[in-house]
Amino acid sequence: MRVLAIETSCDETAVAVYDQATNQMYHRVHSQIETHAVYGGVVPELASRDHFTKLSALLADLGKETPIDAEHIDRIAYTSGPGLAGALMVGAAFATGLAYAWDCPVVPIHHLEGHLMAAQMGEHPIDFPFLALLVSGGHTQLIEAEQFGVYHLLGETIDDAVGEAFDKTAKLLGLGYPGGPALAALAEEGDAVYELPHPLKHQSGFSFSFSGLKTAVRQLIQKSPDDRNTHANIAASFQKICVDILVHQLKRAMKHTGQTRLVVAGGVGANKRLRAELKALAEAEDWTLLYPPAAYCTDNAAMIAIAGSYRSPTDAPLTVHVRPRWPMMTLND
Ligand code: KG4
Ligand code: ZN
Repeated sequence: MRVLAIETSCDETAVAVYDQATNQMYHRVHSQIETHAVYGGVVPELASRDHFTKLSALLADLGKETPIDAEHIDRIAYTSGPGLAGALMVGAAFATGLAYAWDCPVVPIHHLEGHLMAAQMGEHPIDFPFLALLVSGGHTQLIEAEQFGVYHLLGETIDDAVGEAFDKTAKLLGLGYPGGPALAALAEEGDAVYELPHPLKHQSGFSFSFSGLKTAVRQLIQKSPDDRNTHANIAASFQKICVDILVHQLKRAMKHTGQTRLVVAGGVGANKRLRAELKALAEAEDWTLLYPPAAYCTDNAAMIAIAGSYRSPTDAPLTVHVRPRWPMMTLND
């Protein structure tokens, strides 16, 4: 089976073709960073328009590498949600139209299920059940994945997502947008000399909180010298506490569920310090740690193609399915 996938949920336009028989993945991503950078964040209307103008060209470019036509594509998967309504609509309409023209089945995919399945492209195949730490710009969740399509939410952030906290803190440090990777790079130059609050540390449950951290960093910046060395130390301290917060809940969740397999997914999963800590922890606890390759941690269509190879096509192929808000647990129904 060959799956064509379209991803347009936020500020990356992405297409992929997954050839299940040979396990080959072909993909392209166009990042809209430059379009939004001047505004300091994603402008939804500009995102929709950019997806609209780039999709055909991206697909044509991918077509130079692998055949993309009615004869060589068996189904079309697209990100149906969650995400920006207009942006999702562009990808959904494109995929649905193409499927109609090619008389091909369509599979609407949940973006976060895509992130979970991205680990399938890592060194080791995914084996259910597992615990997933989903850390992106919009989500921070601990999910127990019983089998494909059956997910239990153990806990999530009660305010900002961890990626959002990275981006906002980077902005406070004047690092531009999107700041997560830039803040992580700056943190490498510094030492975690500042102590920052660890919210919800002593509470039961598996919730996260990151918004108070942002306020603490703002106050720290205001009373500290305005030089690169200090900023690097602040970045390192911020990164350390974020990783501590994630690891603290993760350890408890692994113990609570008795799972021994851990999947880390989403853009923050590319963070080197988080990866290093989890690797050491997995070795100490004898867990199997599964990651997507770094290129598939952030938004891409390859992960949508993988999920699309597992999920059954919709029986309403002419309906454009867009769900800007869509809890992943409703997939269990
Ligand atoms: O999964 P993703 O590409 O998009 C969403 O669905 O949100 O995640 C993007 C988020 C952004 O907040 C970005 O700053 C963060 O992931 N991110 C990082 C790193 N690379 C990306 N955060 C920390 N360290 C990184 N190396
Ligand atoms: Zn994402």
